Amino acid sequence: MGFEKTAPHGGNIYNFAKKHGYHEQEVIDFSANINPLKYPAGLKEEIINSFENIKHYPDPDCTELKAMAAELYQTHWENIIAGNGAVDLIYTIVQRLRPKKVLIVQPTFSEYEKACKTIGVEPDNLILKGDDDWQLSLQEIGSVLNSYEMLFLCNPNNPTGNTHPIETIKELYRQCKKNKVVLVLDESFLDFTREEDRNTALNLFKQDDDNLIILKSLTKMFSIPGLRLGVAVANSNLVKRLEEFRPPWHINYFAQRAGVYCLSNSRVVAETRSFIEKEKQFVYDGLKKITGFKPFKPSANFILVDVRVSGHSAHTVATSLANYRIMARVCDNFIGLDDNFLRFAVKKREENNKLLTALNEVINSGIK
Ligand SMILES: Cc1ncc(COP(=O)(O)O)c(C=O)c1O
Repeated sequence: MGFEKTAPHGGNIYNFAKKHGYHEQEVIDFSANINPLKYPAGLKEEIINSFENIKHYPDPDCTELKAMAAELYQTHWENIIAGNGAVDLIYTIVQRLRPKKVLIVQPTFSEYEKACKTIGVEPDNLILKGDDDWQLSLQEIGSVLNSYEMLFLCNPNNPTGNTHPIETIKELYRQCKKNKVVLVLDESFLDFTREEDRNTALNLFKQDDDNLIILKSLTKMFSIPGLRLGVAVANSNLVKRLEEFRPPWHINYFAQRAGVYCLSNSRVVAETRSFIEKEKQFVYDGLKKITGFKPFKPSANFILVDVRVSGHSAHTVATSLANYRIMARVCDNFIGLDDNFLRFAVKKREENNKLLTALNEVINSGIK
């Protein structure tokens, strides 16, 4: 049986619902890694109550949003750049800085590569292995770093779910500085991790650093992917350079307003962390019990599973799950992975139970 090409990303609920004749509301989306606790209480009212401001242009400088992010990340207003999702910032960084040679630590989020291709650059890949717990060899990367101008590293990494120890980040940062390589560190999922895994590079960042850019998506933690919002921390001159040729009013009014509201709501982050901590352990334990499944220990809000030993492919499992109205992420289009890998977001207990029940039925039914 031939399979359709895997979608470039999880979360295309519209396509999935249409294809299977479901209503969007009845689909359980395990393919996008979004906070299952929904957007912060009060956010809807905040947006609705400010609706009349739609008649004004938004603040072109994102003053309040930048101030809020700067306070949270303990830096200055000038060191913050906002984007329409972290993905907008990835493209801005690549298209504005135009690195000639780029290295990407794989398997990882595919947009780093796609952004490079828009400027005609075919990036090189350093592919980590599950057998090494997806850990980076500093010796290996250190021996090639001087031939690159930009390095992408995702921490915690999507889709593998591992974090890199702070010693690795520190040393990598030192080596990037020495070799004049811009290190783009994507911390979009870092807020979901336990304190001992929360290895942020923010503590390393110094105002005059022009080789470190730290990305933070706001769409995942605050469950607002439909709104599009992300920020990055970087040197103020770099921020100016990145912002220089963007269209004015780049971040719409409601996204700015939502950003301020969400970032000032630290309770959501704390509640989410303890919720995810319990649920990810529950799902991980459940996945481990499924015959032939090898889940990788997760640090954020999603789990990568190697299904090879079950005798099923990721595609066949995902196709069967669709009958249960469940969307899963087949990972065969991640560089370094293949059709043996599936990724599941961690959701609420009722949904997690539905996933585990469906998976057990699919695997035990023997249909391949
Ligand atoms: C590692 C990583 N960074 C950034 C993004 C994009 O986030 P945003 O929705 O803020 O554009 C994603 C989306 O899946 C991601 O996995």
